[in-house]
Amino acid sequence: MSKRIVVTGASRGIGNETSKKLAEMGHEVLVISRSKKLLNQLKEEYPNNIVPLSLDITNSSAGETIVQYLHKNDQKIDGLIHNAGVLINKPFIEQTRADWQKQFEVNLMAPALLTKDLHGFFNKDSHIVTISSMGGYQGSSKFPGLSVYSATKGGLSILTECIATEFSDKKISCNSLCLGAVQTEMLEQAFPGIEAPVEPEEIADFISEFVLSGHKFYNGQILPVTLGDPG
Ligand SMILES: NC(=O)c1ccc[n+]([C@@H]2O[C@H](COP(=O)([O-])OP(=O)(O)OC[C@H]3O[C@@H](n4cnc5c(N)ncnc54)[C@H](OP(=O)(O)O)[C@@H]3O)[C@@H](O)[C@H]2O)c1
Repeated sequence: MSKRIVVTGASRGIGNETSKKLAEMGHEVLVISRSKKLLNQLKEEYPNNIVPLSLDITNSSAGETIVQYLHKNDQKIDGLIHNAGVLINKPFIEQTRADWQKQFEVNLMAPALLTKDLHGFFNKDSHIVTISSMGGYQGSSKFPGLSVYSATKGGLSILTECIATEFSDKKISCNSLCLGAVQTEMLEQAFPGIEAPVEPEEIADFISEFVLSGHKFYNGQILPVTLGDPG
């Protein structure tokens, strides 16, 4: 049966490939990012399955725009993938207040507020997936330059556990995938020159399957998805 899934950060990298995969599987995907042009390209590729919503998720009206779209079309959603992320690679002592603010807003506050705004639009047995990082996984190796990014991802993991608890009576599950290195623009920013063992298309297969059926087996779980490399 076809499902309706919201994917943030769909213009490139992991979110782009995940959106394509879900569209290929016949699901409807509400794709979100700031780049209208890249989202429209996705729409051209999969005209029947992609709904582009060009939004900055840190904008206070972002959730309301999605809500208005769903309300107008009398639609509900079955999945939400909080994939959009930013990383500012700088030593801890050089990270400015603005750097903290940007990374926290995109990586942690926006997923929290979007979840809150959309909570009334989830079907029973829906699945919220937060895309975290091994850098934000407790006890993992830590790398210079990634302190703020990793802290936001650590926060996202705890938020995942809290949402899973609060939404369990609504039959909405929430799990976090802590990814290792995947070959994208963000990885190049974090670890210039590194060759990741995983391509975005490969992790997209995993994330797509996970959002569709992972909630049958997991809730409130922080799952490392890594071959032992940084992320
Ligand atoms: N690549 C890795 O090795 C790796 C490892 C661990 C975890 N992750 C996580 O996986 C996720 C995807 O990473 P990626 O490597 O695919 O990154 P990426 O290639 O840099 O893509 C980031 C995506 O986030 C969107 N985005 C950023 N700020 C936004 C905003 N304010 N509003 C809406 N969309 C915004 C971007 O779209 P626009 O610029 O068009 O807005 C883009 O589509 C991130 O959460 C990242 O932390 C990645």
